[in-house]
Amino acid sequence: MTAKARRLQSEGHDVVSFAAGEPDFNTPEPVCEAAIKALRDGVTKYTPSAGLPALRQAVAAKLSRENGLAYDPDQVVVSCGAKHSVFNALQALIDPGDEVLLLAPYWMTYRDQILLAGGVPVTVAAEAREGFVPSIDRLREAVTPRTRALILNSPSNPTGATFSRAQLKELAALAIRHDLWVVSDEIYERLTYDTPHTSLAALGRDVAERTVTVTGCSKTYAMTGWRIGFAAAPRPVAQAMSNLQDQVTSNPTSFAQMGAIAALELGPESVEAMREEFLRRRDQMCQRLRAIPGVTLDTPSGAFYCFPDVSPFLERFGDDVGLADFLLEDALVATIPGSVFEGPGHLRLSYAASPADIEKGLERVADSLAKL
Ligand SMILES: Cc1ncc(COP(=O)(O)O)c(C=O)c1O
Repeated sequence: MTAKARRLQSEGHDVVSFAAGEPDFNTPEPVCEAAIKALRDGVTKYTPSAGLPALRQAVAAKLSRENGLAYDPDQVVVSCGAKHSVFNALQALIDPGDEVLLLAPYWMTYRDQILLAGGVPVTVAAEAREGFVPSIDRLREAVTPRTRALILNSPSNPTGATFSRAQLKELAALAIRHDLWVVSDEIYERLTYDTPHTSLAALGRDVAERTVTVTGCSKTYAMTGWRIGFAAAPRPVAQAMSNLQDQVTSNPTSFAQMGAIAALELGPESVEAMREEFLRRRDQMCQRLRAIPGVTLDTPSGAFYCFPDVSPFLERFGDDVGLADFLLEDALVATIPGSVFEGPGHLRLSYAASPADIEKGLERVADSLAKL
């Protein structure tokens, strides 16, 4: 979809893109300055594979301060983005044939990474009316003797769903009872609007002992291109992830790590300003989407995505992929079809777009849908 949108743009069309998976803000200036200084100071050599000691220390301090998590620096592995951290975790934990529970709709990378580890993705679907959080009974029914792990993503891409503390407690109990690992991808942790973020591993030592907590700089500090993610895990898992990374990529870029240290030292104001702007855009996008007859959605409580139900418009196209194609051609608006995330009948619209583009794009979407 992004490639098609770019082609139309290069042909001179005024395309509005709601396809972005990254903040449209610039990386904060002190972070850029720290990386430039690091380059000038010669921080251009290999670092330890799991990251600079100072960064691992800063991540452990951040996880303690903001998330209530007790990790020592040697339990932290710095990787080339949270995507890389999830990959390392799955490679370390999954043996061929192991089943991994995936809560649909889910970020599509998880499925492929489970397959790359030789695992078997087992999908547990949740509906919009459940707030895209499956009931614990449905999750329990999906557990078999081969189930090894579960991937949790709160706040969620693509739905924006955020698990409440009570829901996380139920999930923790399930993981403990059935001896499951949980890979908890918390990359959108600082972008919550209604339900405050809770880290799964903060719920107790017994669940922390079976959790790999993943987060990073990409979404919180608008640093997607820097490729810095973090994982924190029980020592043997952290060591396995570090050993794997040592043979595959070695360390993440040295001066990007110095930028990450500066990011973790930023006061809360810069993140808060971005969060507040996303909140305004979320409300704007929700209001405009709800005004379109036939479109339904509940307000997403985190990340920067709306995931409306557009099933009344699918008759002519057969599926949401056809509808997304139609919107790109007719309205010149790029969206991502929900079936990409195993959430058919929906579209994902990112509000990491300017308020003017949200206004213009959704006016065009409304006009195009009115033709159907
Ligand atoms: C749920 C989720 N996890 C991880 C990532 C990737 O983060 P990073 O850029 O740090 O690899 C994304 C990016 O879109 C995401 O949506």
